[in-house]
Amino acid sequence: MVRSQAVKIEKNKGETVRKRLKELGMLKTHLLPKKNDENIFLPIHDGKKIGYQIVEMDFEEKKRKPRSYKDVLNLPPELQELLPTSYDIIGDIALIKIPDEILGYTKEIGNAILSVHKNVKVVCLSKPVAGEYRTRDVEVIAGEKRTTTLHREYGVELYLDVEKTFFSPRLAGERHRIAGLVKKNETVVDMFTGVAPFAIMVAKQGSPKIVYAIDKNPDAIEFAKKNVIHNRVIDKVEVIQGDTHEIVKEFVDKGVKANRILMNLPFSAQNFLNDALLIAEDGCVIHYYDVLNEEEIDNRISFLKKTSKNVKLEVKSIRTIKTYAPREFYTCFDITVTHMPA
Ligand SMILES: C[S@@+](CC[C@H](N)C(=O)[O-])C[C@H]1O[C@@H](n2cnc3c(N)ncnc32)[C@H](O)[C@@H]1O
Repeated sequence: MVRSQAVKIEKNKGETVRKRLKELGMLKTHLLPKKNDENIFLPIHDGKKIGYQIVEMDFEEKKRKPRSYKDVLNLPPELQELLPTSYDIIGDIALIKIPDEILGYTKEIGNAILSVHKNVKVVCLSKPVAGEYRTRDVEVIAGEKRTTTLHREYGVELYLDVEKTFFSPRLAGERHRIAGLVKKNETVVDMFTGVAPFAIMVAKQGSPKIVYAIDKNPDAIEFAKKNVIHNRVIDKVEVIQGDTHEIVKEFVDKGVKANRILMNLPFSAQNFLNDALLIAEDGCVIHYYDVLNEEEIDNRISFLKKTSKNVKLEVKSIRTIKTYAPREFYTCFDITVTHMPA
């Protein structure tokens, strides 16, 4: 209960006066008005005379729908401020990284997230992505005991396992952008496809001749194949399991040439640039992804240009897609390849 001043008015004038007080900013909207047989009592901020009888009484607080999971938790103040502000939601799974100091509260944090997101059915404690397959260790801390889900973005539906496969919902806008750039009948090579989110978005929203979707992780490939069928793009996407270095050799033998190449393997993509150039058609566009701080950008571009022989690389745009760590950004270079006379 909260003690407050209130306007006492006859019931039949209640709604009109309530609206007027609200417009004037005088009504305490977080408190529930009270009534008896004749009168209604509208809680107001102290102060001005407004021509009605003012009384003082106790009011019940309205039950507010919590806006953030933090509103549901009641940790000691010095720990409350360590709660992460953001977390990813993939399908119906929330993935949160929790600082060591509050690891003792994981269950409470998980349940708080479940209570504010009706569409979230699982909450996982997540470690950063690591290793060749760019996967993350996760632990279910609340909700159903599973790590598989169905994620939807821009009309594409993706089955995936948040523990066994890489996936970032924060790249959805980037996938949509790339799909919009693909011209009719392009051959597209997605060198590191994961569960095939780029490949499927390109096939569904662009009009490529074919998208080759390559990945080394057998789990990712299993989901990629399922997703290609589920999204009805089997005529447009060929899923290939293997090491991109090896698959490119096979492409060279078969004479496969690409008009567009996606290189979404931050930290290592530079080691695959020469593979990309082996299959790049003249005028091919490479979308090269890396995690860099601003000072590293020029160096990385010089390095890429120096590494590539017999071709001219032109960086047409540099885009920051998301923050990766303080002052480090997931960055995309759109690069055009022009073949030089031998
Ligand atoms: C950052 S993830 C990107 C996945 C996908 N493009 C996406 O946006 O969700 C990089 C992927 O590259 C794969 N990978 C790593 N090394 C590889 C290699 N040598 N050959 C093929 N795939 C590789 C990993 O398994 C992982 O799925």
